[in-house]
Amino acid sequence: MLKDKNIILGITGSIAAYKAAYIIRALVKKGAKVQVVITPAGKEFITPLTLSTLSRNPVISEFFSNRDGTWNSHVDLGLWSDAMLIAPATAATIGKMANGIADNMLITTYLSCKAPVFVAPAMDLDMFAHPTTQENLDRLRSFGNHIIEPSEGELASHLIGKGRMEEPDVIIQRLEDFFVGQQELSKKKVLITAGPTYEKIDPVRFIGNYSSGKMGFALAEVCAQKGAEVTLIAGPVSLSVHHPNIRRIDVESAEEMYQQAVKLFPETDAAILCAAVADYRPQEQAEEKIKREATGEIALHLVPNKDIAAALGKMKKKNQIVAGFALETQDAVAHAQEKLQRKNFDFIVLNTLTDEGAGFKHDTNKVTIIDKQGIIKDYPLKQKQTVALDIVNKLTELLV
Ligand code: PMT
Repeated sequence: MLKDKNIILGITGSIAAYKAAYIIRALVKKGAKVQVVITPAGKEFITPLTLSTLSRNPVISEFFSNRDGTWNSHVDLGLWSDAMLIAPATAATIGKMANGIADNMLITTYLSCKAPVFVAPAMDLDMFAHPTTQENLDRLRSFGNHIIEPSEGELASHLIGKGRMEEPDVIIQRLEDFFVGQQELSKKKVLITAGPTYEKIDPVRFIGNYSSGKMGFALAEVCAQKGAEVTLIAGPVSLSVHHPNIRRIDVESAEEMYQQAVKLFPETDAAILCAAVADYRPQEQAEEKIKREATGEIALHLVPNKDIAAALGKMKKKNQIVAGFALETQDAVAHAQEKLQRKNFDFIVLNTLTDEGAGFKHDTNKVTIIDKQGIIKDYPLKQKQTVALDIVNKLTELLV
């Protein structure tokens, strides 16, 4: 899977830098092209001569060569790569990555990189456990970076704990798994709904909900990373899509979302309905701003919106998959099972507002996946990007 892949290997100032030599050797053996970018501190731990000999490429460290003034373009490098691996990644580099502190060639390359980025931390156990490091890693995860967790063992300080950079063969395996996964949904078309809907009351007011779109956008990114052609029907959210395989259609109301979904569904292999669609809308939408009444009270008459999920469940052909969500506050599993049946889903993703860190707005979610065979699987609280991976893996099992 790594043959002819262009890999940027970022090396930073850690004792684990010696392992980078093994990583390069394995990558080259597997047919990858490796470009090393090393920080000034990294060079204190391993020589550029070793790295350039193994990678068969001059090592880049500075913005331009002191010898002949040649400019090293971090932008070109970022575009050239199929993946960037930063191994070892120190706490300092992770902090700079998380906060965009572009004061060396490695960080500018990282910020210009459009390819997936893998980060293998290496540091002392207390540095790794420190809330600052953990928060920075969470931030990197939320940007879609892949963190290769360090293992436990004896550290440079001779203390024993978590912070040892993962072994080169495990890191290489992660890259290979990623490239295999990248093709799992190739030639598949996936439709995703995300975010809230706004149901207009008058030109300045609406009925809405707290959905940020994070869960649905994470699903779109993961499906696209696995090779699917994704259409994302997004309610009003302030998120952006990053992957070129995602076509985004912005809508505002449940009716607009419904129209797009039923039009596009026949052309797709699967739909994941993650949007928090308003079940009701005001029957009347005032042309002008509603003025405050002298009595102080007004009544809104609400009528039901169309159920997009139920409509797609009805339209579903044998070779199509429909996955829905259930957002519950009580009797969660029973309600989710009822929705799974009624809306003819192949599986349903249950999230419950009583679970801390789950549901609306958070970067994390805690879900239970229930399929139509009755299999119930609970997952722990994870970043929405990783939750999306669990959901898309379930979809992939059913689709391919
Ligand atoms: O956007 P975030 O801030 O990241 O939050 C994520 C989320 C909490 C919105 C998401 O994880 C989630 O739970 N989405 C579904 C919310 C919801 O509307 O659940 P529900 O149980 O009311 O609806 C059941 C299913 O029917 C859902 O798949 C929903 O998309 C769908 N539905 C509901 C009503 C309707 N008129 N049309 C629909 O398609």
